[in-house]
Amino acid sequence: MKKINPSIIYPIENWQVSESEYTLETNQRSETIFTVGNGYIGIRGCTEETMPELENHTLPGTYINGFYETAPIIYGEAAYGYAENHQTILNVPNALPFEITVDGEKITLFSGKITDYSRKLSFKTGLFERQFTWTSEKTGKQLKIIFSRLASFTRKHVAAIKINIQPVNFMAADIQVTSSLQGAVTNQEHDGDPRAGAAFSGQVLNTEKVIQQSGILGLFQRTTSSKLEIASGIKHSIPGSVSQKQDFWSESWQFDGSTSIEISKFIGYATSEKDNIQTLCTELEKASKAGFAQLVQEQVDYLDLFWNRADIGVTGDDALQQALRFNAFHLLQSVGRDGRTNIAAKGVTGEGYEGHYFWDTEIFIFPFFAFTQPEIAKKLLEYRYSILPNAKKRARDLACSGALFPWRTINGEEASAYYPAGTAQIHINADIMHALKLYTEVTNDTDFLNEKGLEMLIETSRFYMDYGDFVEGRGFTINGVTGPDEYTALINNNTYTNMMVKDQLEFLLTSLTDEARIKFNISDIEIKNWTLAAKNMYIHRTNSALIGQDDSFLNKGKWPFETTREDQYPLLLHFHPMKIYQKQVLKQADLILAMVLQSERFSDEEKQVNYDYYEPLTTHDSSLSPATHAIIAAELGRMEQAVSFFYYTARTDLDDYHHNVKDGVHTAAMAGSWLTIVYGFAGLRIKNGELHFQPRLPDKWTGYQFRITFQGRIIEVQTTTSGTNFTLIQGNSIQLFSDGNPIQL
Ligand code: BGC
Repeated sequence: MKKINPSIIYPIENWQVSESEYTLETNQRSETIFTVGNGYIGIRGCTEETMPELENHTLPGTYINGFYETAPIIYGEAAYGYAENHQTILNVPNALPFEITVDGEKITLFSGKITDYSRKLSFKTGLFERQFTWTSEKTGKQLKIIFSRLASFTRKHVAAIKINIQPVNFMAADIQVTSSLQGAVTNQEHDGDPRAGAAFSGQVLNTEKVIQQSGILGLFQRTTSSKLEIASGIKHSIPGSVSQKQDFWSESWQFDGSTSIEISKFIGYATSEKDNIQTLCTELEKASKAGFAQLVQEQVDYLDLFWNRADIGVTGDDALQQALRFNAFHLLQSVGRDGRTNIAAKGVTGEGYEGHYFWDTEIFIFPFFAFTQPEIAKKLLEYRYSILPNAKKRARDLACSGALFPWRTINGEEASAYYPAGTAQIHINADIMHALKLYTEVTNDTDFLNEKGLEMLIETSRFYMDYGDFVEGRGFTINGVTGPDEYTALINNNTYTNMMVKDQLEFLLTSLTDEARIKFNISDIEIKNWTLAAKNMYIHRTNSALIGQDDSFLNKGKWPFETTREDQYPLLLHFHPMKIYQKQVLKQADLILAMVLQSERFSDEEKQVNYDYYEPLTTHDSSLSPATHAIIAAELGRMEQAVSFFYYTARTDLDDYHHNVKDGVHTAAMAGSWLTIVYGFAGLRIKNGELHFQPRLPDKWTGYQFRITFQGRIIEVQTTTSGTNFTLIQGNSIQLFSDGNPIQL
């Protein structure tokens, strides 16, 4: 397996992540780590003070999930049906800035002497705090400054900052505080890494109105090309003197230094509402009336409920314990929950992958929400349903009936400019349907299935039936696709894809209602074809237990791993795709992932043989990969490997394994840590609608525990060195299975 050299960056703490030193070189990484978000607003953990020294070491980013600009994709050589437009999550007006001067001296991390510095994010209170003591080198005057920040979990449109300035060793000084809202913001430019950077440069938000009403200072702006509206604003807890210039608002106060100063700044954003200005003003009004302390209390209460269902832990390894909570917390911060947005590969923490939603959602992240916050999982599916019209149109672009969901998108249109590793991943349809099936099994919510799910299921199946072919002597084949492994492109019969489609068709056939047959005009012939395709789905098996990743994979030469240097990974940044595609080399788990998701379709021997074959060929250049390998390694009892892979997925962001946390967190890898405990070490699989566990405990640990929500119940699973206990925390009695033995709770 790939070597990783874990080196702990942030102190290991149970319920928070913190730093006690400010380092310019790694500041952007910390800005990502310390982001506060509520699934709609995301504010990177940047400083409130603006400082020229930060220049290239900061990305002062605030993002709104689903708020984007478009730009045409420029192809050197275009072809029919290529995706037409980039969609890029936008950096929106910056409401962080505070400037403090004492006797004319500006307080920053680079002026005066800084002591007792810290920046921390608590998973229990949802509060981000920065503090430091500043001593003037000229006058010796000392002040303690504390900034507290949150993005409200209960008030979608609201974030807030409280600033507290305490004079330490003086009674009189001229203290000036200025707080501002800066509307002239831009996105990050390309730095050569295709995974980062926008397709346009300069400011694309145009200010159409300034807002000033009952202490609210705001801006109403529109994007240049996508024409989306955003209203943003601030309101302070005490009135000051206000000034405005173009898209810049500020409010200032003067103090005499005799007492502590406290100012709360309520921050609001509204997009895609009927009246964005009205929503902004109403929400800011309400939040400022409630006050900062009340907003904190609401966070604490919300998180109490969240952790009651979502807490997960390992005993015997504090670094993993911290990572599990950090990851779950960031997933909650990142996930859109209004049915109109989803969860981006980087959440709302940065501009990597342009803020796009991928299959990462359904295959890696969805189970976490389905089993801990099913109401959020439902919203994720509602988002997919909301873009079904785009998916139908996209299928027509490919001259097919039915619907093809976009490989990467924000607004529902396909945005992948490189189709071999984008649009060609038509497994996206089956991934979404897999999530629908899981949601239905976990919640029994057949209303959703009948009202929205079935239509998606029928239309995406129609696409597959049209795209694939019945081939004499083979069965149903799906040619010209790319599977999950992006180092192998445009091949025939990717096993992962074909198995997932088979499963989807079977799910469709068992879910179909008479009503749906009439509504969607389903003929007997169509049903017969679905049945035949499911039954005769072609899988590239060999005369041993080894299965081909696709029709051609096993006939290729192997990648020259021995001569590939450490600094040539990820391969995608150092080798032409042609070179990569012609070899047996994987970016990420492919067939191994099918063994997790379609567990019962593989024999034990097949799992062993294929894991042994494909694991050494896998670079894990995608952060999605290690969790899958961890799960199968655990199933096969290869506990040491399972733990190593688990470390990799769990601490991907905290230890910055891919050296790109500066561009945002890796939400799929984060969810992969939850999956590894639950699907991996506890061995959870749903079989015939029932819960089956196969718990295993790595030697190094003394235990692990988690809770899952299942059909209205909360069940706690706790494994220790003396075995596994299942406890029904809430809901009706249920039978589950552990190592095949029935247990009645
Ligand atoms: C992976 C894809 C993934 C995307 C976004 C790529 O590197 O290969 O599978 O969807 O990142 O996370």
